[in-house]
Amino acid sequence: MNLDLNALIEEILPKQKEGKVASYIPALASVDPNQLGIAFYDLKNQQIIQAGDSKTRFAIESISKVIALLWAIKKLGIQEVFTYVGSRQTGFAFNSALNMEITHAKKPLNPFVNVGAIMTTSLIVQDKEINPHPFAEILAFTKEICNDPDLYLDTQIYLSEKETGDLNRSLAYYLKAKNMMIAKVEPSLDTYFKQCSIMVTTKSLANLGAVLANDGIKPWDNQRLISSESATVTKSLMMTAGLYNQSGTYSRLIGVPTKSGVGGGLVSAAPHKFGIGIFSPALNDEGNSVAGLALLQSIVDKLDLNIFK
Ligand code: DON
Repeated sequence: MNLDLNALIEEILPKQKEGKVASYIPALASVDPNQLGIAFYDLKNQQIIQAGDSKTRFAIESISKVIALLWAIKKLGIQEVFTYVGSRQTGFAFNSALNMEITHAKKPLNPFVNVGAIMTTSLIVQDKEINPHPFAEILAFTKEICNDPDLYLDTQIYLSEKETGDLNRSLAYYLKAKNMMIAKVEPSLDTYFKQCSIMVTTKSLANLGAVLANDGIKPWDNQRLISSESATVTKSLMMTAGLYNQSGTYSRLIGVPTKSGVGGGLVSAAPHKFGIGIFSPALNDEGNSVAGLALLQSIVDKLDLNIFK
């Protein structure tokens, strides 16, 4: 790959000043904003390339919604999961449920807005039967799809999410009150807060992106982990909803399925080419990494990765 990643990082890092580290989850507020890292899984050459703050651990946050969706599909099947959660774009903030009230919706818009993600996680907590170990299942699956046996739950972040998670609590109780959620609210929220507090690196995310880009097959051992259909459906949803109400803008600017997290992470899947993980914790108003998106945009241009070209 003919790219000077270190020079690119140096050029783009100052953009972080245009954003702010998430502070509505207090444990995230102390993260140093002056960081930018990237890891690529190059499917053709079977190698991982890393630069900048690529080895720093950070909270996976909303990127866990991709993994929980894949796990729910693996357990229950695509049809069943999308009976409970929609696949529509959003024009609202990631933690809004406003449209549900206004449109008398029967299910959340999609699995990536918080209300939809809480719904998906609740399906793992209880489908027909109560699952005694929902988080252990999600953690094990995250280790596998990220090829990262060392990733772990950060208890401080989890407790901080739990303590300040009243908006998420209101979304979950709304689903319960409207009979959309079968599982109990508190265990569902608890599992959701925990999945958001898993600590990953850009390399873990590059591996996740690589499985999606490689049609559901883990490129490091050539074993299928998820169905081709679930990889395709998930990439489509990342394109239309992965960056919330900025998804349309970045579909135009980048054209690669991408999911963000308020920990500053981005995962992208460039089909049959690359899995990409990026980290830079300062966020724009929509909750997406400012320098991270700038780096992604620059790389997509340089490597000609827009899937619509
Ligand atoms: O539930 C929350 O608000 C956070 N744990 C996750 C939100 C998030 O990452 C939104 N993504 N950009």
